[in-house]
Amino acid sequence: MRVLITGGAGFLGSHVASYFADNGHEVTVFDQNPVDGNFKTIIGDLTKATDVAAAVKGNDTVVHIGAIGDVYLAGEQPALASAVNVVGSANIAEAALEQGCRVVYASTWEVYGEPEYQPMDEKHPTNPDHPYNITKLAGERILMAASELRGLPVVALRLGTAFGSGLRPNSVFRIFIDRAKAGEPITVQGGGTQGRQFTHARDISRAFLMAAESGISGGVYNTTAPEVTSIKELAELVVSRFPTELTFGPARAGDVPAASVSAVKIEEELGWKAEVPFEEGLDELIATLE
Ligand SMILES: NC(=O)c1ccc[n+]([C@@H]2O[C@H](COP(=O)([O-])OP(=O)(O)OC[C@H]3O[C@@H](n4cnc5c(N)ncnc54)[C@H](O)[C@@H]3O)[C@@H](O)[C@H]2O)c1
Repeated sequence: MRVLITGGAGFLGSHVASYFADNGHEVTVFDQNPVDGNFKTIIGDLTKATDVAAAVKGNDTVVHIGAIGDVYLAGEQPALASAVNVVGSANIAEAALEQGCRVVYASTWEVYGEPEYQPMDEKHPTNPDHPYNITKLAGERILMAASELRGLPVVALRLGTAFGSGLRPNSVFRIFIDRAKAGEPITVQGGGTQGRQFTHARDISRAFLMAAESGISGGVYNTTAPEVTSIKELAELVVSRFPTELTFGPARAGDVPAASVSAVKIEEELGWKAEVPFEEGLDELIATLE
């Protein structure tokens, strides 16, 4: 396929671009920032319809990953998050309709908000409560409306918290590993009991390819690994590799409470399930930071 990958200079986008290229697809990357790697690259702004239309032209598939993906930045700049995550997705929908493309959207498990039951499946109500998950859900809904009302083929993947090489320095993984390696204490915010289904970037990349190759339209899928690891357990695993002191501090605004997510639907309908065991992925990430 000829695929445009938005956000290809970012953490997940760069993994997904490499994965599609390795599987023989013709990849073009779209981002506001320059991209590492041997991809055809278009520098542009998702909030500008003309930039997006020019980039989408000539492709049959758009994997829409570009966004304000940093929860803390979205909290500080809700107008920016709204422009990129909502208007940007509307621009993708228009351009994809014009070109007859299929779209796969990077949504998040955080769209559910406070759990009403667990594990949360795709029928769970969505009650986002923060500029990050509000704008990510709005982007998903804009694309789904284009699917329902105008026939745009769309699949949305509600991704688990991702990890792998190239993580942002302000991610919990990088903060713990960087501090422990420097012999500084690690502080777990808010007790650390909140569990996460950390999902490896390689598994997520495979899900994007399976969704892009499927004939499904209008599908929404949780895309989470089954293993639940608490932030405290993550800190303990890091300390077992790089011994240092473990302390506890107050919760940060934007931190999401514990919630478990079901990935049964994507396994049944797309045949996807996470394969990278958490500790193996963690050691692989640590090795990339040596
Ligand atoms: N990382 C995770 O744990 C996770 C989990 C669930 C969902 N997601 C979603 O996956 C996507 C990627 O997340 P990430 O962690 O790789 O984020 P990231 O910040 O590393 O990547 C986002 C990319 O989008 C680009 N971008 C931002 N604004 C732009 C604009 N106006 N025009 C063009 N490009 C722009 C950035 O330059 C960046 O390269 C996001 O949509 C995020 O919501 C991520």
